[in-house]
Amino acid sequence: MAQQVMQIGGISFACVVRGSGRPLVLVHGFPFDHTMWQAQIETLSAVCCVIAPDLRGFGGSGLSDADVADGVEMRRYAADIKAVLDELQISEPAILCGFSMGGYVLWQFVLEYPECVAAIVLCDTRADADSAEGQQARLQMAENVMRNGIDAVPGAMIPKLLAAETIANRQEIVDQVEVMIRKSSPEGIAAAQRGMGKRPDVREHLGEMNWPAMVVVGAEDAISSPAEMREIAEALPAAEYVEIEAAGHMTPLENPGAVSDALLRFVQSL
Ligand code: MLT
Repeated sequence: MAQQVMQIGGISFACVVRGSGRPLVLVHGFPFDHTMWQAQIETLSAVCCVIAPDLRGFGGSGLSDADVADGVEMRRYAADIKAVLDELQISEPAILCGFSMGGYVLWQFVLEYPECVAAIVLCDTRADADSAEGQQARLQMAENVMRNGIDAVPGAMIPKLLAAETIANRQEIVDQVEVMIRKSSPEGIAAAQRGMGKRPDVREHLGEMNWPAMVVVGAEDAISSPAEMREIAEALPAAEYVEIEAAGHMTPLENPGAVSDALLRFVQSL
């Protein structure tokens, strides 16, 4: 899928821009890139201008020396998305859809740039911060990948990312996720892990997020559980809750049709 490459925030930044109409930004999770949204880009670009960036350090987007040294905080990724909208001269408020780490980025985007937001979609994500133990595990992965490379990452992550049924019976999805993870660099993974560990708890702000919202979660999600996502939906003033069957955490890949249909219906309802 053709990407535009722009110079923003001191790096070379790659982004798919496809279709016309209302801007819809699809923000990928960790450690992936825009290709996790392939099915949704195909469907939604028929009715929207879909903008699917590679966050800095992933896919075709670079990292600065400071990112490698300090990690990338969620508000830095959010600032890059704002810079992309500016670069594309998009002044119309956008529909933001964030998956997992992309959801953490979305929270920071809506808090920093509320005037740029028309509606929000939270997909398999969380609103709280990490526990001390969770932060420690992230720092450990960051150190491990910088020392030993990323070979251990797919084996450590795939059992949590995919439903047991997907792992047992849908090898093509397991392979697709592994290929995406293996495209990531140690630097990109380490920088994101350091940044995610520092992300704030945004639960106190959910009640102020008055935009039309949809909360999407895989019925078997082991990372951001349906119970946790339902709490987010209940805390948001105007959210619809959608549970996706036959999916773990990676709903856009495990049940792409259901996620695309939910997004299409949501966008057309606005
Ligand atoms: C993701 O899918 O983006 C990650 O599971 C997020 C995380 O590590 O918290």
